[in-house]
Amino acid sequence: MAYLEDDQKIRQIQSQLDIVELISESVQLSRKGNNYWGLCPFHGEKTASFSVSRDKQMFYCFGCHIGGNIFTFLMKRDGLEFREALEILAAKAGVDISRPRDRGRIDQQKAIISINNAAAQFYHQKLLSAQGDDARSYLSKRGITQQTIETYRLGYAEDNWQELTNYLLGRGFNAEAIKSSGLVKRSDNQSRFYDLFRHRIIFPIMLYNQDVIGFGGRSLGDAMPKYLNTPETELFSKRKNLYGLAQAREAIRQNNNAFLVEGYMDCIKLQQTGIMNVVASLGTALTEEQARLLHRYTEKVTILYDGDEAGQNATLRAAIVLREAQVKVEIISLPPGQDPDDLIESSGKKEFWHYIENNVCSDIEFKLNRLILATPVLELDDKIRIINALKEDIDNLGSIVERDTYIKMLARKLKVEENLIYQEYRQVHRHKFSGRYRNNNGINRDNIKYGKYGLQEKILAAMLKSPDLYDKIKSRIGIKFFADDVYQNFIREYERMDGTPEEKLHRMMTAHPNDSDASAYARIAMLMGEENEDLYIEVEEFIMRVEKKKAEREWQRIYEQVETLADQGNFQSIIRFVINIDKTAHFAREGDAL
Ligand code: GTP
Ligand code: MN
Repeated sequence: MAYLEDDQKIRQIQSQLDIVELISESVQLSRKGNNYWGLCPFHGEKTASFSVSRDKQMFYCFGCHIGGNIFTFLMKRDGLEFREALEILAAKAGVDISRPRDRGRIDQQKAIISINNAAAQFYHQKLLSAQGDDARSYLSKRGITQQTIETYRLGYAEDNWQELTNYLLGRGFNAEAIKSSGLVKRSDNQSRFYDLFRHRIIFPIMLYNQDVIGFGGRSLGDAMPKYLNTPETELFSKRKNLYGLAQAREAIRQNNNAFLVEGYMDCIKLQQTGIMNVVASLGTALTEEQARLLHRYTEKVTILYDGDEAGQNATLRAAIVLREAQVKVEIISLPPGQDPDDLIESSGKKEFWHYIENNVCSDIEFKLNRLILATPVLELDDKIRIINALKEDIDNLGSIVERDTYIKMLARKLKVEENLIYQEYRQVHRHKFSGRYRNNNGINRDNIKYGKYGLQEKILAAMLKSPDLYDKIKSRIGIKFFADDVYQNFIREYERMDGTPEEKLHRMMTAHPNDSDASAYARIAMLMGEENEDLYIEVEEFIMRVEKKKAEREWQRIYEQVETLADQGNFQSIIRFVINIDKTAHFAREGDAL
């Protein structure tokens, strides 16, 4: 959500930047009619359905129905929060948006990033140099290619206490800032600095834009701990970031799926195998923040954790966290004792792929299998317990067909009658058939629903284009005919603002950047841009239809009342009532009682 004080600044940024130029950085656009067209960066497609309007400074994809303005574009392209997109575009436009009290913090973070970037480069050069011989041969023994070393900017920290410290000081970085990076520690008696990473393979952890925010370091031999991470700093939090995201994000978006693994090594090995859409958590259990981060790029995550007991338990926990973040989950269980890296090494690329393709199951099926495995002999009690343990999961499914599939699966695997399970489920959860999944990352792939403009959208677009029509609709039929809350709320908010319709649309997009609302507004704006005489005729017809319905309903009410009075034999009341009808009919014509 934009801060109020930014409103002026936001407009200033918008006026200085051009959406066609911004999008051209990453999408090849060509002009056709009033708009620019290209292949949508948010879903895989072969013919261009992604349109950008220079007049309106908006984009909209007719294939996946994502749309918005420069801010929402950057948010979606780079998986950013609104504030982050705002900062980047402000810098591009040369508009200073930092609030004074934030400036110190921002400067400090920038300083740490420069130090980290320099350190990553230093370690990388070391790995490539003669001092990196052992490390290189270790990596090659583990099947890491030269290309991967480059892509991941892998490095090597020598077995030396002062190397990096001296290098960074020599480069003129401020000693305090170096210390805040966590790469260098102060000795107990406070007199000397020394390097955190010694004799370790270095895995830089990067933001989406390749800025290094922290490091993981793996010991070359058996030295403990096996992995060491940059300590938590203001910049680096293990809970909020994912390893491999910078390299994977494009592929994650294209596939609308991300593989989630536990280890750095697993992550880069999978990418090396050609599975590009993979990220790893940073040595902690998957967190809510990480799930939300993933959800900015994808609707589905495939968990691929170690095949041991700990890994399988962690899988269940991660599945819950992802589900709660509205992410759909699939799971691949590896053979006991193997992690993805081991399996690639032991069976080769082709067989690994094969394994992946043949062992995907849903989170519910995974849970069911775990429960069955944990119960060596299935007594009736156990079966009931398992059925109940899955009740909520199955109940929360969006479609009846899906529920049905799982109930059949349960029946088959537990060897009970399907009907019994239905009965067990029906007792408590009778009403909750509707899906709980709300797609709120603005990606909507429902082409049936969105293929053509709906009547509500047409009416709204016509209303925004023509103030006369707007007033006419409001006074004659009101706005409650909009079945969708999005549009009713839209009108309410719209009326509270001033400016041209387009200005208002932009401000609403900016106010709801994360919602699918921004896409809905962009769609309206695109519709407004189309020349369409039929639109007004269609809307006029609609108004008449609604008015007719209202009148019919009013008369229906009158007949019913007369009938009731007649049944009661109350003729005096009937006469009084009929006299009043003229007034009532007049009221019905005026509308307002929908
Ligand atoms: P390799 O042994 O090199 O294949 O690494 P791995 O990724 O298979 O390691 P493992 O499955 O043991 O651990 C998975 C992840 O947990 C690692 O990538 C680290 O992020 C984290 N981790 C493992 N061991 C340690 C440790 O000793 N300390 C810390 N802080 N993290 C660890
Ligand atoms: Mn491993």
